[in-house]
Amino acid sequence: MIHHILGALLLLELLGSCIIGEHNLPSLSAKISKFLESEGGPAGNPHDILEGTRWALLVAGSRGYENYRHQADVCHAFQLLKKGGLREENIIVFMYDDIAFDADNPRPGVIINSPSGDNVYEGVPKDYTGDNANVQNLFGVILGNTSALTGGSGKVLDSGPKDHIFIYYSDHGGPGVVAMASDEFVYADDLINVLKQKHQGNAYASMVFYLEACESGSMFEGLLPETINIYAITAANATEDSFAAYCPDDYPYISPAYDVCLGDVYSVSWMEDSEKHDLRSETLGQQLQVVRRRTAVENSEGGSHVMQYGSPVLSREYLYTYMGTSTLNDNYTLSKRIATPSTVKAVSQRGADLLHHQHKFNKAPKDSTRRLEAQKQLLNEISNRMLVDNKIKKISRLLFGTKRGIAMLHTVRTGGQPLVDDWSCLKTFVMIYEEHCGSLSRYGLKYMRAIANMCNANITTEQMSMAAARICIMN
Ligand SMILES: *[C@@H]1O[C@H](CO)[C@@H](O)[C@H](O)[C@H]1NC(C)=O
Ligand SMILES: *[C@@H]1O[C@H](CO)[C@@H](O)[C@H](O)[C@H]1NC(C)=O
Ligand SMILES: *[C@@H]1O[C@H](CO)[C@@H](O)[C@H](O)[C@H]1NC(C)=O
Ligand SMILES: *[C@@H]1O[C@H](CO)[C@@H](O)[C@H](O)[C@H]1NC(C)=O
Repeated sequence: MIHHILGALLLLELLGSCIIGEHNLPSLSAKISKFLESEGGPAGNPHDILEGTRWALLVAGSRGYENYRHQADVCHAFQLLKKGGLREENIIVFMYDDIAFDADNPRPGVIINSPSGDNVYEGVPKDYTGDNANVQNLFGVILGNTSALTGGSGKVLDSGPKDHIFIYYSDHGGPGVVAMASDEFVYADDLINVLKQKHQGNAYASMVFYLEACESGSMFEGLLPETINIYAITAANATEDSFAAYCPDDYPYISPAYDVCLGDVYSVSWMEDSEKHDLRSETLGQQLQVVRRRTAVENSEGGSHVMQYGSPVLSREYLYTYMGTSTLNDNYTLSKRIATPSTVKAVSQRGADLLHHQHKFNKAPKDSTRRLEAQKQLLNEISNRMLVDNKIKKISRLLFGTKRGIAMLHTVRTGGQPLVDDWSCLKTFVMIYEEHCGSLSRYGLKYMRAIANMCNANITTEQMSMAAARICIMN
């Protein structure tokens, strides 16, 4: 019996080699020894056999205590994968790392991702922290290009053709863009090009990308090909906010010592689902359904549409392929039960920062410096937002006329088209805006579509420069 199977493996391998035109003997012997190992092991679940190595890249794109939740999400994901059996050398973490010991943290050195959750901060590797959590390092890490790195641990996705890569990212975003802790932007076309390069380098068998951010669908829509074995799932579609979870005053109640949201709806949904199942028996597609229900708009005041992009065929793969599984979950097979909605009134990513300042203000004793500080932060944030709102509105009106100018802020291209065709135009226009009008800031990312629409309408660089100068400098 065993000889038959070995013979079949050999034949398959030879056929495979003919197709790719070379004989790959080391990989053949690895396959046979792996096969023998599994033959000798417990009968077990057929999905226990995994060829290749699991890699994970975890990225929190924000900083500042008001954004507690993004780093909490990423720390939690690290613990989950570690329990699943991934080796620390194969998990790479990007986080600013300014939360655990922030003066506002009621439990110094501890980060939690749910009201009664464990400390998820312990043992998280500090691979790329502070300003090393930047775009250049992110792309260097994905491509496994150590000479592109500056600072950080030097760990990269040093993956091969049989390996499986899981990327999870949590932060603020906007149409066609997500932010990094270094305050730079990751543009969708650059990210997609890096993923295509990784594919051309034959550096993975399959990849799964979980993305939590506002308008996260716009990072992949019309951009991620079906043919490069990448399956992306996003917290929101291309035109809506994503939502924070476990916020002050929401049910389930968090300790009043916290005046921040502890997690994000989509993120805690997939992690809490993964923690309660034998991941050898739950597929990516099954998890998508559970998470989609829990994140859905109908469930709460705030909700978003969980979307999928890329290679849908990968939805049939088991979560085990990417996340491993913890033996503690062996008895939790997939239940059909609908997960309980996590939140009653989720708070949008863009509202969560304001909520923090507001709560800090309300809780601080009258006339305390803390109260004054919170008040200042709140007023600053609100006035900055109003300034950005006004400047963009006025520029659009100047370019398109009073009435069309307002419509062009929100016009959405149809039929699954990407946000913009000419990405270099978008980047140039953002630069022009920031040169004349100051930083867009994380809040201003929501205007990426307004700026993209200027490019799509063939506004020239000169027109954009003139308009920005007129609104922001001459006024
Ligand atoms: C690696 O990064 C360096 C520095 O950015 C670049 O010059 C080089 O072309 C990259 N190598 C590959 C293989 O992409
Ligand atoms: C995207 O979300 C918005 C807001 O929730 C909704 O109106 C729209 O129908 C959604 N579009 C898709 C394609 O899901
Ligand atoms: C799972 O169930 C079996 C049989 O009831 C039991 O022996 C085992 O200890 C359980 N495993 C865990 C991790 O609870
Ligand atoms: C912009 O220019 C392109 C190329 O010249 C043209 O095909 C397109 O129709 C123009 N779009 C608009 C909105 O004028």
